[in-house]
Amino acid sequence: MASERTLILVKPDGVQRKLIGTIVSRIENKGLNIIALKMLNVTAELSKQHYAEHVEKPFYPDLESFITSAPVVAMIVEGPEAVSVMRMLIGATNGREAAPGTIRGDYGSSRQMNMIHGSDSVDSAKREIGIYFTDNEICSYGVALGDWVC
Ligand code: TYD
Ligand code: MG
Repeated sequence: MASERTLILVKPDGVQRKLIGTIVSRIENKGLNIIALKMLNVTAELSKQHYAEHVEKPFYPDLESFITSAPVVAMIVEGPEAVSVMRMLIGATNGREAAPGTIRGDYGSSRQMNMIHGSDSVDSAKREIGIYFTDNEICSYGVALGDWVC
């Protein structure tokens, strides 16, 4: 099973609603490793980089206003098939369609304000991790507990 890395954001609504801890817990409970984590404000420029595939879509202006409206918490999550495992934990884009038991299904009913971002493929993850993190911000877990390498 390939170990993968994926880029996760707790979006502005998740931060405002005090769901950072809940979302971090769900990731940890699943057994995945958080190997980088920080809070930042997404600028309009960063939003356009992150959401390059959506910039020309009609919903993009509202998406940019939303994602720049308050801080986000960015994380790199690592583990076996982390990209698809996180997409499963996150649930469908629209909170009204997301299954109960998923993060979006349990905490929201909006399509835009859906609390969390997760990369949709290994290639997207590589690109998005490069947008949000530098190499020296990423830690890795050693084989033995407590043996940390940054
Ligand atoms: P998308 O990449 O399609 O969804 P996901 O986050 O599940 O990968 O879209 C990016 C974000 O854009 C999505 O989380 C919420 C927002 N969005 C809208 O506001 N309206 C829309 O019609 C779509 C498709 C997305
Ligand atoms: Mg997406």
